[in-house]
Amino acid sequence: MPLMFAAICPTALNATVKKSENHPDSVYLLSYATPSNPKEGIRLAYSIDQKNWIGIGNNHSFVRSDFGTWGAEKNMFSPSVIQDTDGTWYAVWSLNQRSPQFATTLTHDLWIWKPQDYPFMTKGKNVINPVITKENGKFVVTYKTTEGEVYRTESSDFKQWSVPEKTSENNYKPKLTQAIVNGIEREGEVNRVAWQTVEKLITNVEAAAFRAQRDNERMADDEWRFKGLKEVKASLNVNLNDTKAISSDLIGIFFEDINYAADGGLYAELIQNRDFEYSKSDRGEWNSQTSWTLQGEGSEWTIETENPIHANNSHYSVLNTTKTGAQLINGGFDGIVTKKGEKYILSLFLRSLSKNGQKLRVSIKNGSEIIATSTFSASSAWKQYKTTLTAKSDADNATLCIEPLSEGKVGIDFVSLFPQNTYKKRTNGMRADLAQLLADIHPRFVRFPGGCATHGNGIDNIYHWKNTIGPLHERKGNFNIWGYHQSMGLGFYEYFQFCEDIGAEPLPVLAAGVPCQNSSRGGDGQQGGIPMDEMDEYLQELLDLIEWANGDAKTSSLARLRAEAGHPKPFNLKYLGIGNEDLISDVFTERYNYLCRGIRAKHPEITVVGTVGPFFEGSDYEYGWQIAKEEKLPIVDEHYYNSPGWFINNQKFYDKYERNSTKVYLGEYASRGNNLENALAEGVHITNLERNGDVVVMSSYAPLLAKEKHTQWNPDLIYFNNTEVKPTVNYYIQQLCGQNSGSQYIYNNLNVEDNNEAVFKRVASSVVKDEKTGDLILKLVNCLPSSVKLDINLGSIEGYQKAASKTVITGNYNERNLKPTVSSIEVSDKFDYELPRYSFTVIRIKHDTAKK
Ligand code: AHR
Repeated sequence: MPLMFAAICPTALNATVKKSENHPDSVYLLSYATPSNPKEGIRLAYSIDQKNWIGIGNNHSFVRSDFGTWGAEKNMFSPSVIQDTDGTWYAVWSLNQRSPQFATTLTHDLWIWKPQDYPFMTKGKNVINPVITKENGKFVVTYKTTEGEVYRTESSDFKQWSVPEKTSENNYKPKLTQAIVNGIEREGEVNRVAWQTVEKLITNVEAAAFRAQRDNERMADDEWRFKGLKEVKASLNVNLNDTKAISSDLIGIFFEDINYAADGGLYAELIQNRDFEYSKSDRGEWNSQTSWTLQGEGSEWTIETENPIHANNSHYSVLNTTKTGAQLINGGFDGIVTKKGEKYILSLFLRSLSKNGQKLRVSIKNGSEIIATSTFSASSAWKQYKTTLTAKSDADNATLCIEPLSEGKVGIDFVSLFPQNTYKKRTNGMRADLAQLLADIHPRFVRFPGGCATHGNGIDNIYHWKNTIGPLHERKGNFNIWGYHQSMGLGFYEYFQFCEDIGAEPLPVLAAGVPCQNSSRGGDGQQGGIPMDEMDEYLQELLDLIEWANGDAKTSSLARLRAEAGHPKPFNLKYLGIGNEDLISDVFTERYNYLCRGIRAKHPEITVVGTVGPFFEGSDYEYGWQIAKEEKLPIVDEHYYNSPGWFINNQKFYDKYERNSTKVYLGEYASRGNNLENALAEGVHITNLERNGDVVVMSSYAPLLAKEKHTQWNPDLIYFNNTEVKPTVNYYIQQLCGQNSGSQYIYNNLNVEDNNEAVFKRVASSVVKDEKTGDLILKLVNCLPSSVKLDINLGSIEGYQKAASKTVITGNYNERNLKPTVSSIEVSDKFDYELPRYSFTVIRIKHDTAKK
């Protein structure tokens, strides 16, 4: 490869270079990728003479490819970088050995890079080794194909690219330079940059490394970290007259069908694959027969699709019986649980395919014991049969058995067994014990149906709310991005009803017209996106949701569907989320703005909740926030899953946010574990969220539910199996904060008598007032291995009861199965309280008007 000297960008240099004594004005900058590890992305090195190269940061990746799925993809090959006259850097690279696309991104400082786009090159095949140049004011990319042809495409705005034209090999001029960086041979492109640019990068990399190390602080190291720590003393001065209004909706929940949270979980249906619609697209080895078996002799079992019960439910079972004795058995979701004396609604569709009056017996069985049974006689057209069964005994692992009692052929579909005893006794409702745990958080809102489940794996997997309402057998299931099946039995009507039942605002979140950026299905194009000429229809679907939820059933046909389902009154929807931590690409932005603007124009009464990427920093966060501010979005949804140390070391994270701008919904967060250490870190964070409750208006831990043996994501808030619910210690923090939230923040000054930052950052407090009850609530967190003697000075608590309640969670930092204990505490204007080591305490001081 020829050695090339990159052009120096004089405007950019002149604008930024200041003479520094020990450094040159400008240096050479090498940008390179690692062909043997294409996930490493762009690395940088500098040199004053192009002979001795020094890597910037310890193998720091300045930008990685975001194309494709985690694991197999996200590869970067042969990046090409130029700096424009205004100082902006533009980069392109190739993605793999098959895509007719290259990646594009830009950056103003080589530190924050714009979320990537992947324009399609219609001509040519796989794009390899693209080279970017600027010619006559236009960006030009020449690239090769796997076949060795050379193509050229150009763009004025770095967004719209011309249809590529074949060009001669002579026009393909890679700008590659070989260099030894930190002893390793590299190949990349060389540009000339101001020394200050490099110096800033070095500082940034070092600061990032420092933060990463600091945020990695773990309580397992506390023994040495706090060696010799004497008794800690602290004071808390509360100024009851110094207050600010904060969101009273701070604590909510985020429900996503992940970890079998819906089917087999919160949704109380007991039959798995009740409609024979499981398929390979759910999971490679699954099909219509999954979770059913035929036992015994005399019947042949087939799956058929002709003349189904509904077009959305096209598969059904046929039993062709020549001699009775066989039975079709469903094992439920890891077995069917029954409780003696409780009632179960059994329903199924039958159609006699030979003589009329085909008889079947359907029984719940525990081994050979019949727990409940009923017989049905099929007629020649599809008909739904329903009966209520009462369980004779308890069982953990029962089955549902369908036995033909006569010879002939019968079609069977949509076999459902539903406990009558659901949460609030709702038909097609929620499993009571799990729902109760959620209700006990006193969540002010429920975000649903995802997460990744809402934007889906590929365009065909985007969640369409209309497929989830109406008669159950007419709903359209889909594969679940988390590797199983969504029956949609728990659909939008059920979500809204559940919200109402637990006194929470519904917060539906729907896709921004793009699927998950990590999609593995739907071919190349990665994030893809609904074609713009179909976006009207998609926007209408979102507008229809508002109409369905809030419209008048007398005048609106959509609202009538809601009324017919059992809810004549409007659901009073206030929020609508658009997008889920999407890559803020151009494809995304175009669709997102279109949807947000369209909804806000038609329904200014709806608060649109936008999205700002999956992390607390980085390009999606930066660009997501930029759009939010430009568009003056009311709220955006932030997500981050960080180490406990991050929460301890970033307590001022929201203190720096603008107070009168877009508000924050912290829609997903967790501290990567279910030990007390994690729960306390999350507790610390909630005290900081409360202090910033004028900016952070809602928050929800994620994920919420996880069924044992079906868990794709750890940690979660509540684990469960068919018979037990297992709230984690993290759950109890959420529950305590939900039950003890306030609408007024009361300024308080916590002074830990230890100048060591390592010590004082481990103690946190928040004081709020619940204006509904008038109660004062103190939340106190001690993440230290020793207790903290706290002098609490409330000024005057005239008008408050002296006997307060105190709820404490404490234990060793690595314990998991901890629960809060409640006791009383005598409070006064000034009182002492000793925070136990590793503890979270809530002191609730009742207003005098409250009942004693
Ligand atoms: O909470 C689990 C997943 O985390 C969500 O589906 C997604 O939004 C995030 O990546």
